[in-house]
Amino acid sequence: MITITRRRFWCNVVDMPKAILFDAYGTIFDVHSVIRNAGADIAGDLDALSQLWRRKQLEYTWLHALMERYEDFWQLTWAALRSSVQQLSIPATDAQLEQLMQSYLTPDVFADASVALAQFHALPLGILSNGSPSMLDSAVRHGNLESHFAHVISVDSMGTYKPSPRVYALGTSRFKLPADEILFVSSNLWDAEGAKSFGYRVCWCNRSGAEFVSRNLDPDFIVAGLHQLPNQLP
Ligand code: LAC
Repeated sequence: MITITRRRFWCNVVDMPKAILFDAYGTIFDVHSVIRNAGADIAGDLDALSQLWRRKQLEYTWLHALMERYEDFWQLTWAALRSSVQQLSIPATDAQLEQLMQSYLTPDVFADASVALAQFHALPLGILSNGSPSMLDSAVRHGNLESHFAHVISVDSMGTYKPSPRVYALGTSRFKLPADEILFVSSNLWDAEGAKSFGYRVCWCNRSGAEFVSRNLDPDFIVAGLHQLPNQLP
């Protein structure tokens, strides 16, 4: 039976995890900074482009996973960009599209993510992301985050995408810990649900204050920003 619960935020102090695994895009890195920072002089509704680009990027990952036709995140991000500009009739040149893609390699780090990461000294931290290894490597280096993460894990070695349980299993095998001893943190609710379904303890970072509708894959707790995360742990 599906119970419907409507709450935007809730907080329970959870047992101390032995490691924390973060989603990357949307959670640590601001995907909407990509267009803002690209400096490409493109005419059109760039906010709409940013939203559609992200939506298509994720849809393509789900489609390719279901079709069992893996193309890496860089390729799917390119395809999503081309399709989005076409759908919105945005007259961007190939050089401008290239500029937007290059900007994907240097996304902004959310300020609340920096605050949270700086407070976890004792716990091993990791990233588990759809991003290709070179995209993640570049984003982590650009954000000066290398020293925070024991593991930066890309789905690439598994050849599929979240929310496949095979992908979430990369986290447990890399940390050599059972799923219920790892806290998985994502601002993407579908990713939080996928991680919960796999067996992780889960925190959903609900920055936008979206309404939460329970589907029985509830996160263990919800924060309004990652700066609240350290306070939720004993
Ligand atoms: C990631 C996607 C969900 O970083 O944005 O895995």
